[in-house]
Amino acid sequence: MADPQALAALRAAAFAAMPQAYAPYSKFRVGAALLTTDGEIIAGCNVENAAYPAGICAERVAMGAAVVRGFRHFTHVVVATDAGTPTPPCGMCRQVLQELAPDCRVISVTSSGAEAEWALADLLPYPFEPSSLRDE
Ligand code: THU
Repeated sequence: MADPQALAALRAAAFAAMPQAYAPYSKFRVGAALLTTDGEIIAGCNVENAAYPAGICAERVAMGAAVVRGFRHFTHVVVATDAGTPTPPCGMCRQVLQELAPDCRVISVTSSGAEAEWALADLLPYPFEPSSLRDE
């Protein structure tokens, strides 16, 4: 069971990252915040590009920022948007979360106060995972 204070801080970090988004094309700002097993919080925002496919989602920006700081174990990710309803991570982000946070809870929050929560395992059933590369 996660510490409610840590989750409140995680939601706040995701909301704080959201306005940092560089999203001139979609105008869809996303903030994401990862909670490590040590209780650290690492945030990210989406960073788009004039070459559209080169843009990167907030969740993957957060994961890269976490890994460069040496964190590899996560319990939760919060995704914050201004959308009308809570939005789940895209398929590519689900796959990236699967690598280092396979047991994580995914919480999606909106600025209007709506919230949804899933287990990553429910968002990405039958994942391709590190063990898939080995003949086991
Ligand atoms: N996006 C994210 O950053 N995270 C999500 O969970 C969904 C989508 C970004 C990608 C793109 O910059 C914009 O939102 C519209 O798809």
